[in-house]
Amino acid sequence: MKAKKVEGNRIGIIGVGNIGSSILRGLLAADSSTGLERISIYDTNKKALLDFESDSEIKAIVKVCTSNEEVAKNSEVIILAVKPGVMKAVVKEIAPFITADEILISVAAGALTKTIEGYLGEGKKVIRVMPNIGARVSESVCALCKGRYAETDDEEIAKGILSVIGSVYSVSESDLDVITGLSGSGIAFFAAIIDAMADGGVYKGLPRDLALAISAETALGAAKMVLAGDTPSAIQAMTASPGGTTIRGLYAMDSRGVKAAMMTAVIDATERSAEISRMDTANEE
Ligand SMILES: NC(=O)c1ccc[n+]([C@@H]2O[C@H](COP(=O)([O-])OP(=O)(O)OC[C@H]3O[C@@H](n4cnc5c(N)ncnc54)[C@H](OP(=O)(O)O)[C@@H]3O)[C@@H](O)[C@H]2O)c1
Repeated sequence: MKAKKVEGNRIGIIGVGNIGSSILRGLLAADSSTGLERISIYDTNKKALLDFESDSEIKAIVKVCTSNEEVAKNSEVIILAVKPGVMKAVVKEIAPFITADEILISVAAGALTKTIEGYLGEGKKVIRVMPNIGARVSESVCALCKGRYAETDDEEIAKGILSVIGSVYSVSESDLDVITGLSGSGIAFFAAIIDAMADGGVYKGLPRDLALAISAETALGAAKMVLAGDTPSAIQAMTASPGGTTIRGLYAMDSRGVKAAMMTAVIDATERSAEISRMDTANEE
């Protein structure tokens, strides 16, 4: 379900690289009736801030701060979108400015809520989210879980914000590694498939732009059918007539191990996410 409002809470984003800027753009693209309040942002990479400093419409909503501390002071909900390697330093830097009523949302792959709570301090609220880059076009899938001190209301606040940029699922923290593989990384796997199918079209003579548009829209159609209730096998059965083109293509995919390759991509990405969590935990011991 997509909620429609981001009202009430002052939001901050620390790190506006790939995912932080995509979340910000998704929030900015939300209908003005969402009651979006001012969003404070900061990034140590000045280039990442440029796009948000120059546009006057964006400037009306986005406050580009001069430090992480300023974002923390300005915000009740802080979205932390930095790489896991700098997470500890950034959380410790902002911890003194985050009260026990405020919420820290981390999108870092593999960073456990208990680890972040350890940096932030006893009793402070952490929500861990795995979004994907689809946020850029308000089509993210977010899975989230709350840490020890966050309450159901805090989870609802996080869901309210993130639902503006796509679907949100509450999950247990132990599921976040596989969701990282399936969705956080998975959107890149789908991009690779769209690209490969477009290449097939180009190989057979289509101009690249046309091949790419048709490939992407075909993926969209399949996704919408699945979400509307058609199973993947029903879509295959409805398309593959005896002796026809589709069954020939499906056989080609099967005989070249496409299914195993896609399953392995998700499994390996999941294992990498778990590996990052273990490294993080080991560093703390
Ligand atoms: N990219 C995705 O699709 C995706 C999806 C789901 C989750 N995530 C998670 O999101 C996090 C960010 O990933 P990303 O791909 O967006 O990385 P990114 O593009 O490198 O963005 C991180 C930004 O944070 C900046 N930064 C570094 N140190 C900082 C500090 N001390 N204070 C403030 N900003 C700082 C970086 O600057 P520099 O460039 O100068 O280092 C960069 O602009 C990761 O933990 C990742 O696991 C990413």
